[in-house]
Amino acid sequence: MTDAAPKKLHIKTYGCQMNVYDSERMADLLAPLGYALTDRVDDADMVLLNTCHIREKAAEKVYSELGRIARLKHARTARGGSMILGVAGCVAQAEGEEVLRRAPYVDMVFGPQTYHRLPEMVARLHREKGAQLDTDFPEDSKFDHLSAAARVEGSTAFLTVQEGCDKFCTFCVVPYTRGAEFSRPVDQVLAEARRLARSGAREITLLGQNVNAYHGRDADGRETGLGGLIRRLAEIDGIDRLRYTTSYPAEVDDALIAAHRDVPELMPYLHLPVQSGSDRVLKAMNRRHGRAFYLDLVGRLRDARPDLGLSSDFIVGFPGESDADFEDTLRLVREVGYAQAYSFKYSPRPGTPAAAMECQVPEDVKDARLKALQDLLNAQQRAFNESCVGRSMPVLLDRPGRRAGQLAGRSPYMQAVHVDLPGKQAEAWLGRLVDLTIVAAGGNSLRAAAAEPAAGRSPRRIPA
Ligand code: SAH
Ligand code: F3S
Repeated sequence: MTDAAPKKLHIKTYGCQMNVYDSERMADLLAPLGYALTDRVDDADMVLLNTCHIREKAAEKVYSELGRIARLKHARTARGGSMILGVAGCVAQAEGEEVLRRAPYVDMVFGPQTYHRLPEMVARLHREKGAQLDTDFPEDSKFDHLSAAARVEGSTAFLTVQEGCDKFCTFCVVPYTRGAEFSRPVDQVLAEARRLARSGAREITLLGQNVNAYHGRDADGRETGLGGLIRRLAEIDGIDRLRYTTSYPAEVDDALIAAHRDVPELMPYLHLPVQSGSDRVLKAMNRRHGRAFYLDLVGRLRDARPDLGLSSDFIVGFPGESDADFEDTLRLVREVGYAQAYSFKYSPRPGTPAAAMECQVPEDVKDARLKALQDLLNAQQRAFNESCVGRSMPVLLDRPGRRAGQLAGRSPYMQAVHVDLPGKQAEAWLGRLVDLTIVAAGGNSLRAAAAEPAAGRSPRRIPA
């Protein structure tokens, strides 16, 4: 069914970086069928929504977007054209039939485990009518089938090394939507990283729902943890920066802490979700770490890497959370001091144990707690950003800024950094890692100046 005329594919991605990565792979898989990406949904022959089910609001957003696209599809059909509409990702996985019931105009519903079957689904769609549902967990791994076409945006790239989660936190749908933990073999990861580096990636973020549960096998059949994998990746020519997300605190092992101490390519920034500062709540959440364990872990990580910046996820209003429990969370935040963090109101997800718990917290209490927590976290983020003023730090200038002569990039701590550069310097520095002096800080970004008069000087690598 490979028609000669190029067809247009629009993918809208919701949720986490895993979905961003998966959307890129879907585009790669559909390219051989003649689909080229477009930013315009009204212009597309195929529209895919790669969805997120983590909170109720995220799922509802998908249904309202589907309604909007249905009107575009209808208008297109009325003009004699056609549009294939697909729902992918975790809403598809969790709600399957329900998506087709609520949005019967959808042509394909497929979960994260079945992306590699996408070309086959599209081919079948062209042959027969009727919507397709593919949300099984197949025996074969999707990584065996996905083309590893390297796609690098700017100088940064994502690389999925691990999928799935076996932790079953009582609030979370991920173990149900993404399935059991699975690690890609070491050689496959290294090969993909080399390809990314050859395509211009200077920074690679390793992805996994539970990335530090990584235990891939190397060619000799030996298991390698995330710390070992990071050491191997850091040796690849051209890779200057490594990051990984998302981590489960109870599985940060000594080898990973040692990698933070020894590997200069590993950025001093870590997203380490704690969810709550109350032992009682952590237990009800089935987290396998308590408050003291988490604080001790933060201490050991900071001993290994004193300039480590931390980020986290928090949930407020988990069933049964009292004022005292919430105070414990605020105390933990004050004790750790975060560079940045995400916080959410607890959202009951159907089928998870917490949704059936008694003592659900009233919405107005959740609102008040979320505001108090976010005020504190925002103040910490501002303070962290301000503490960067006057410091020199390596910035990966991976994109043009808004104004002519301006470049934008990321600091080691994932802060957005803008710098105005004279003459042709902006052109020369695009895509490079440059030491810059931070001269001003806002809530969400930093402004920098070149560290020294930089004419003729070549940008430096991150100092070891
Ligand atoms: N390790 C995962 C975490 C998945 S969920 C990953 O990042 O890929 C991301 C965050 O969403 C969680 O850390 C949690 O803080 C939040 N979250 C998950 N389920 C939630 C729920 N039912 N209600 C509110 N927040 C939730
Ligand atoms: Fe979800 Fe807990 Fe796993 S938050 S992704 S079940 S570690």
